[in-house]
Amino acid sequence: MADRWRSALITGASSGIGRALALELARGGTRRLVLVARRAEELARVAAEVSELGGEAAVEVLDVADADRCAARMRELDDAMGGLDLVVANAGQGAPSGANPLAWETLRGPLHVNFCGAAATLTGALPAMIARGRGHLVGIGSLASYGPLPEAAAYCSPKAGLSMLLACLAMDLEDKGVAVTDVRLGFVKTAMVARATHPMPQLAEPEDVARHVVHRLLEKPRQVVYPRALGAATRVFALAPEAVRRRVLGRASPGRSGS
Ligand SMILES: NC(=O)c1ccc[n+]([C@@H]2O[C@H](COP(=O)([O-])OP(=O)(O)OC[C@H]3O[C@@H](n4cnc5c(N)ncnc54)[C@H](OP(=O)(O)O)[C@@H]3O)[C@@H](O)[C@H]2O)c1
Repeated sequence: MADRWRSALITGASSGIGRALALELARGGTRRLVLVARRAEELARVAAEVSELGGEAAVEVLDVADADRCAARMRELDDAMGGLDLVVANAGQGAPSGANPLAWETLRGPLHVNFCGAAATLTGALPAMIARGRGHLVGIGSLASYGPLPEAAAYCSPKAGLSMLLACLAMDLEDKGVAVTDVRLGFVKTAMVARATHPMPQLAEPEDVARHVVHRLLEKPRQVVYPRALGAATRVFALAPEAVRRRVLGRASPGRSGS
């Protein structure tokens, strides 16, 4: 079994998957954590839960959408921690419900947080990891990055961008001792999907997701897909001919859209 991380930073650690990952890491022996998000009280609550598990958690109130500041803070936090072994870019948001899916105002938040914030988080910590010749970068992505979905540009585009960023980083870091993992998740029962009205097959609990993801991350894989069956189905669906995908998604074929 690979070495566990001694220190880790997780963005979006105030709730949902980020909180569950922080607790799972603490339970597994990662003693020093940095928990990043905007809500100070929620972060403090998670930090208290981490200490109950024998870990130590520093709290960092930060809006990752301020990407320049985020990248600069990652460098400072890495330094303050004496080097981070693991950085997880997990902070994310969906489009506000009922928003116009084609408006810039709808795309702006998810693009700034889910893509620019994640990119700043990962690359901010990177120079120090390269200098040490070790480290692990993880992006929490989505099965939504496999292909387009109706009225979901705000969510699919930054997640697809994140997956591409991770693939490029992995290629460039191959011989530098820094591992890169793209975690692509299906539906998880968190605040993000609490108001969703669409079907959510194989909806998972954040604790089960965290247990699976942390266990898999120990092997430093290029990709973790969860749940696997839904991931495989989504991948196959994305490769199907456009006419088939349109039919399944309930879209008229282009030639008949006006009828
Ligand atoms: N739930 C799902 O079905 C699902 C599926 C696939 C992937 N994911 C991904 O999993 C990740 C975690 O989401 P979740 O489901 O756990 O939802 P969640 O409970 O709503 O958590 C989102 C986290 O992101 C933080 N966050 C949002 N905007 C931020 C910002 N500007 N700066 C810093 N932190 C910010 C939130 O903290 P503050 O509000 O305190 O800032 C919160 O801790 C996201 O990247 C999401 O896209 C979720």
